[in-house]
Amino acid sequence: MAHCEQPTFEPENFFSGRCILVNGPVIVGAGPSGLAVGAGLRQQGVPFVILERANCIASLWQNRTYDRLKLHLPKQFCQLPHVTFPQNFPKYPSKGQFIEYLETYARMFDINPRFDESVQTAKYDQTCGLWRVKTVNGSDGSSVEYISRWLVVASGENAEKVVPEFEGLKELFNGNVTHACEYKSGESYSGKRVLVVGCGNSGMEVALDLCHHDAAPSMVVRSSVHVLPREILGKSTFELGVRLMKWNMPIWVVDKILLLAARFVLGNIERYGLKRPSVGPLQLKKTKGKTPVLDIGTLSKIKTGEIKIVPAIRRFFNGGVEFINGEKLEIDSVILATGYCSNVPSWLKEGELFSEEGFADGWKGKSGIYAVGFSRRGISGASEDAIRVAQDIGKIWQKETRQKNQCFMTIF
Ligand SMILES: Cc1cc2nc3c(=O)[nH]c(=O)nc-3n(C[C@H](O)[C@H](O)[C@H](O)COP(=O)(O)OP(=O)(O)OC[C@H]3O[C@@H](n4cnc5c(N)ncnc54)[C@H](O)[C@@H]3O)c2cc1C
Ligand SMILES: *[C@@H]1O[C@H](CO)[C@@H](O)[C@H](O)[C@H]1NC(C)=O
Ligand SMILES: *[C@@H]1O[C@H](CO)[C@@H](O)[C@H](O)[C@H]1NC(C)=O
Ligand SMILES: *[C@@H]1O[C@H](CO)[C@@H](O)[C@H](O)[C@H]1NC(C)=O
Repeated sequence: MAHCEQPTFEPENFFSGRCILVNGPVIVGAGPSGLAVGAGLRQQGVPFVILERANCIASLWQNRTYDRLKLHLPKQFCQLPHVTFPQNFPKYPSKGQFIEYLETYARMFDINPRFDESVQTAKYDQTCGLWRVKTVNGSDGSSVEYISRWLVVASGENAEKVVPEFEGLKELFNGNVTHACEYKSGESYSGKRVLVVGCGNSGMEVALDLCHHDAAPSMVVRSSVHVLPREILGKSTFELGVRLMKWNMPIWVVDKILLLAARFVLGNIERYGLKRPSVGPLQLKKTKGKTPVLDIGTLSKIKTGEIKIVPAIRRFFNGGVEFINGEKLEIDSVILATGYCSNVPSWLKEGELFSEEGFADGWKGKSGIYAVGFSRRGISGASEDAIRVAQDIGKIWQKETRQKNQCFMTIF
């Protein structure tokens, strides 16, 4: 059973605290989504407060990704509203460059999140028509209640790690077990036999990085996976997909074209144990939210045998792992590239807009709640959400400000 690690909090020392009335919306999260909404509000002169549990902006990128990470998609698909990447950035900016861009973005729009403020609950008070958002300060444990008309949820689809339970992993296996979000580089794994659990983009890239550091990775492919070349004849595969969709081609036709192109560039990957799902890559993304892997060199290491493909895990024992086919493998370490989940269900006490898994079915709810970055469409999807949300709040704000001014004029 996959287990989504949800944050916990202690009710005893909870609410001793201060109460802050926020003029404008409260935004939860200072990642790309929260920053983009902040920028849009700033442009319209709407005040806001951003609450961020970490001590910096974009903490997913700064603290929970590995050193060699580059954007998976070409830069034009990863921009936030109103500001393009600098000319000198490469087609696929590095993690450091992306962070630099976000830092500049926050400065440009004078966005100053309240750091170390972790949202524990958010409740809509029907009678006053207000949101009550409680936080705990990570550095001194104090709590604050923020009260506002609007709540913008921008805490991310990848807020927490998913850690599956395996027989023997905790009790018997004595090697190092790390989640991909704690993995920085393969340096400390040099010479080690490493089992990478999971074959999404993270698993594939971690396995490649391990190769570059002279480790011996084996990667678990439990069922099936769509691997596409990052580029086809020098053109981004993602961009090709986007273009074809724009011509109103049915999704299954686009999938057929992408798979043909993948076959042409990568060959028959099923020969290496990478079975393709029966559903096409875009269809699978649309229905299950499962992102296809964009290959940046892992496949050639699989072909040469430097990365071994292994089947699903049955159990771990001291010094190794047994697979469902009964084969055993000695390993030193395990890296769990088993994905991420939303933490919204743990703190949002309101059924509308968000599903039980913490994903949003749209960008706007009835009670002044908004979702940004929950449509499984990466940074470009988050940017689109952010523009809509900022405009929607801005419109209401301006109307009310005008009304207030008219009131004052009649009074004085
Ligand atoms: C390894 C990796 C590579 C990726 N590469 C790409 C790519 O190339 N292109 C692309 O489009 N997308 C990529 N993505 C997807 C990426 O997550 C998003 O595009 C982007 O970071 C989403 O921004 P966000 O602001 O919605 O969420 P996040 O970046 O996760 O930011 C959310 C913020 O909310 C804070 N937060 C969470 N819970 C709380 C709480 N309860 N209280 C207060 N604060 C809270 C978090 O600390 C975090 O700072 C990648 C994801 C991963 C994991
Ligand atoms: C996250 O990374 C930034 C930049 O390196 C650093 O300033 C910050 O202290 C880190 N935060 C945590 C919680 O590790
Ligand atoms: C959190 O606590 C620290 C230490 O007391 C304090 O400096 C900081 O201002 C607090 N943060 C907020 C947003 O209140
Ligand atoms: C596992 O290895 C990583 C990277 O070398 C290290 O940061 C981490 O502390 C180790 N964990 C354990 C439990 O030994």
